[in-house]
Amino acid sequence: MAEERSASRLNMRRLAVAALAASPLFVLAAFGFAEMYKYFFMSQASSGATCHGCHEKLEKKLVDQWRESAHYRKGVMCESCHGEDHEQIFSVDGRVSAKVCGDCHRKAYDEFLKSKHGHQITHTKYTDRDLDKSYDTVGGCYLTLGCHYSQRKAEDGTQGSCQPCHPSHSASLRVSRDPRICNKCHQGTDNPQWEVYKNSVHYAIYSVDGVRGGGASCVTCHMPGATHDDGQFVNSGLMERQGLPKLSFVKTIPKDQFVAKRSAMIQVCRDCHASKIAKRSLETADHFLERGAIMVEEAKSIIEKLYEEKLLRPMPEDRDPNLFTGSAFVLGGRQLFDQHSSDIERRFYEMVMFDFPFMWRGAYHNLPELQTWHANEKLKGDLIYIRNEALRLRNFAGMYREKGLPPKPDGKQGGGDAGGSGGKGN
Ligand code: HEC
Ligand code: HEC
Ligand code: HEC
Ligand code: HEC
Ligand code: HEC
Ligand code: HEC
Ligand code: HEC
Repeated sequence: MAEERSASRLNMRRLAVAALAASPLFVLAAFGFAEMYKYFFMSQASSGATCHGCHEKLEKKLVDQWRESAHYRKGVMCESCHGEDHEQIFSVDGRVSAKVCGDCHRKAYDEFLKSKHGHQITHTKYTDRDLDKSYDTVGGCYLTLGCHYSQRKAEDGTQGSCQPCHPSHSASLRVSRDPRICNKCHQGTDNPQWEVYKNSVHYAIYSVDGVRGGGASCVTCHMPGATHDDGQFVNSGLMERQGLPKLSFVKTIPKDQFVAKRSAMIQVCRDCHASKIAKRSLETADHFLERGAIMVEEAKSIIEKLYEEKLLRPMPEDRDPNLFTGSAFVLGGRQLFDQHSSDIERRFYEMVMFDFPFMWRGAYHNLPELQTWHANEKLKGDLIYIRNEALRLRNFAGMYREKGLPPKPDGKQGGGDAGGSGGKGN
């Protein structure tokens, strides 16, 4: 489908270029009036036209932006990034790989490839498939200019795109440094860094007085010294230590590695804070991460037990299969593709994907109000619900057994998910 579409687009484009040489009348018939103007112009410009000479008449603002850029001043031309072969340009929809930028910006490129922004996503079959073969969607998240765009595999076979943080032809560093450029991806229920940060003191000062006024932006803390290796300062996990329970939804990190990244981050805070204060604030956040992870773990084991006892309603094998995991029992991210989940599993999904990240990301981004009252309380609520629902399912199973009914009343046998209120009107 996508291939068909791009093939027909390509033909249209071939036609358009062919029209450079064609008569305006043919073009009028083929494209209508609005398009005609463009192609008529192109036919004028075709002989020996420069890229910007022709494009000035097509996308004037784009060429203006380029004229205001450091690139223009240093003689970096359209073809330096896009190449000279217009057929080739059309065939990749004008995309430019990070490698092309990297040929001139070696340091930024090498650092970018070390960061998660530059990593190809390989941790799931599902994202692999979509990242390689289609740039339309990734699980409902638009890949064309979407959250994983910087991680895409480029048409020339190399890795990544710099475009998300350097989006316009002006190559404006003011734009790249602004938190709003990060927010496009770093916001929403599963990774609410923006929601948290925008309510913090750091942002209040930044938005009023800027960095010079003492404010910190995403870039201040994550890309200090203009490094593109933003993972240097981030653990996103807990330090390995004795007595730490096994946690399924949080990484544990070897001590030396953890300490190295933590010290680097504290060094960043040290521009504005005393080290004790920065350190304590981050340790408090670690504590919230651990506490949340333990709650999630308890919820997980409750549901696993119900599964073993065949008490989930409906059981995975009695549902339409999960798009990616079929009838297997899964907890975590892949639950997204299960549209026939039981209530208790669904609540777990919200707990682990939304409420838990909100709590710990809130903690690291200094927003006690949201982290404590919103996320922490919500997480407790999830756990209480899951405990109670397990109790209810067990009671039900007991009642069924007493009446000699099958222990697992599933949809097919008409047992239904009555929720205790007698669905069939008794
Ligand atoms: C004579 C006119 C003309 C010249 C010269 C020209 N282009 Fe284009 N280019 C077009 C037209 C027409 C389109 C389709 C634009 C549209 O839909 O608005 C296009 C599209 C593009 C696109 C977008 C890719 C796409 O798939 O639509 C890029 C990038 C591009 N050109 C770069 C260049 C570069 C680089 C050069 C110089 C090597 C160049 N162009 C020379 C006419 C021209
Ligand atoms: C520094 C590199 C660079 C230079 C120089 C450059 N471009 Fe681009 N251009 C890009 C990138 C990056 C994109 C975004 C495509 C992508 O997602 O990879 C783009 C996209 C485009 C598009 C499609 C934009 C759209 O949204 O429809 C056109 C058209 C285009 N460029 C034309 C030009 C023209 C004409 C010039 C010269 C005046 C030029 N470019 C110079 C990097 C560059
Ligand atoms: C042909 C070499 C070349 C290519 C390709 C190239 N650049 Fe540049 N870029 C430069 C030069 C030269 C400068 C100016 C550096 C300076 O003034 O010190 C520059 C400056 C920049 C700046 C800083 C702008 C400023 O105001 O200081 C950014 C950001 C940038 N490039 C990003 C990109 C991105 C993203 C790409 C790929 C889409 C790219 N460049 C492709 C050569 C290139
Ligand atoms: C996560 C967002 C992000 C990505 C992805 C990204 N950049 Fe940047 N880049 C920035 C920010 C922010 C700055 C400004 C940093 C500062 O000055 O504080 C910057 C600055 C730059 C500069 C000017 C400063 C310098 O180091 O000379 C260049 C050049 C540059 N980037 C090139 C690239 C290239 C090439 C890529 C892709 C290989 C890329 N960037 C990918 C966010 C990004
Ligand atoms: C195109 C979407 C996009 C944009 C724009 C973007 N990011 Fe990211 N960012 C991602 C993705 C995807 C990841 C990797 C998430 C993962 O794999 O866990 C990521 C990861 C990160 C990480 C974690 C690094 C690590 O090693 O754990 C930091 C920090 C980060 N981004 C900061 C920024 C900053 C600062 C900006 C703005 C200058 C920004 N991002 C812009 C998509 C984006
Ligand atoms: C005051 C400094 C500071 C600011 C400002 C800041 N962060 Fe962070 N960020 C941190 C700290 C500290 C961590 C946790 C580090 C760790 O895990 O050891 C973190 C973690 C992250 C992570 C990785 C963990 C996760 O949540 O997945 C991402 C992504 C991230 N920040 C993005 C952003 C974005 C986007 C912004 C702006 C909207 C931002 N940060 C603003 C300090 C900051
Ligand atoms: C560019 C300067 C700057 C950087 C870097 C910075 N902060 Fe701040 N931070 C401030 C200012 C200014 C305040 C408000 C004054 C105060 O409370 O000391 C503040 C306030 C705070 C607060 C109190 C929040 C509140 O609601 O009152 C905490 C906690 C905090 N920062 C932690 C950190 C941590 C942790 C880091 C490093 C990951 C960091 N900051 C990096 C400037 C910065």
